[in-house]
Amino acid sequence: MNKNSLVSISDINREELEDILARAAYFEAHPNNKVLDGRVVATLFFEPSTRTRLSFETAVNRLGGRVIGFSDASTTSSSKGETLNDTIKMVSNYVDLIIMRHYLEGAARYASEVTDVPVINAGDGANQHPSQTILDLYSILKTQGTLKDLTITMVGDLKYGRTVHSLLQAMQYYNPTFNFVACPELQMPREYLEFCNERGIKYSLSEDFSPEIINSSDIIYMTRVQRERFADIMEYERVKDLYNLENSMLAQSKPNLKILHPLPRVNEIARDVDSNPKAYYFDQARNGLYARQAIITRALGIDMNAVKEKAIEL
Ligand code: CP
Repeated sequence: MNKNSLVSISDINREELEDILARAAYFEAHPNNKVLDGRVVATLFFEPSTRTRLSFETAVNRLGGRVIGFSDASTTSSSKGETLNDTIKMVSNYVDLIIMRHYLEGAARYASEVTDVPVINAGDGANQHPSQTILDLYSILKTQGTLKDLTITMVGDLKYGRTVHSLLQAMQYYNPTFNFVACPELQMPREYLEFCNERGIKYSLSEDFSPEIINSSDIIYMTRVQRERFADIMEYERVKDLYNLENSMLAQSKPNLKILHPLPRVNEIARDVDSNPKAYYFDQARNGLYARQAIITRALGIDMNAVKEKAIEL
């Protein structure tokens, strides 16, 4: 296993996390660079994606590297029965870095254990999505000026939503207060509540997305109910539209409030919220480019002095 792999947000400590955020700020100011000249990166997407794959690939391109990979595993030899082990070993012959999304929880960890090439987890089932967490933290830091002492309300599918699991863990260093708003079937899993309990992290559980919760929040993190994770489609139909944020619900919210969403959205944020200055989800997705440039350079062991030497000022 390569020590620079990023499979879970818990693979990195606070110092490493903040180093990545500092890198992201640099790349936002200087997005074009030649530091990956001669490097090849694989993007292996066994599950659909728009933002994650395209922002990772844009990040590589803007850093002067090249990308190989697939966005549809049915066109690869895995459809003929090739195992994940063999696929990863083969791709490792060709590239310097593997970025992988897979529908099975633990697939990225497994991949990282069968290759010496660094592996970045771009989402594994309902488990973890650490690069999304880095861009979420960067978005929170940019909009709030701090990561400390914030009230963060997570709404919707907290059971299957891998982004909220990673974000909860990353916030452990910054004294957050969480409100977990979900129906009982989709509440935050016990292991993550225990994570909070063990660290003295304050949280409330609520089925009601109440004005009190909205008006006390610094961040509202909306999530999509993940149809693809439900074994029973009738169960999905019953819970899919329980939480909808509308613009009128924000009338008494804090001036610094920002609405985040990892996207894609379905119905959980009404279109009339988009023009509210508190809506930040499209800017959040743009921050993904800078966060992923930061993650890629770290994974390849490239220090910031080398990055600065290769900067292209336009
Ligand atoms: N946020 C996110 O992971 O989006 P995609 O599924 O489009 O990559």
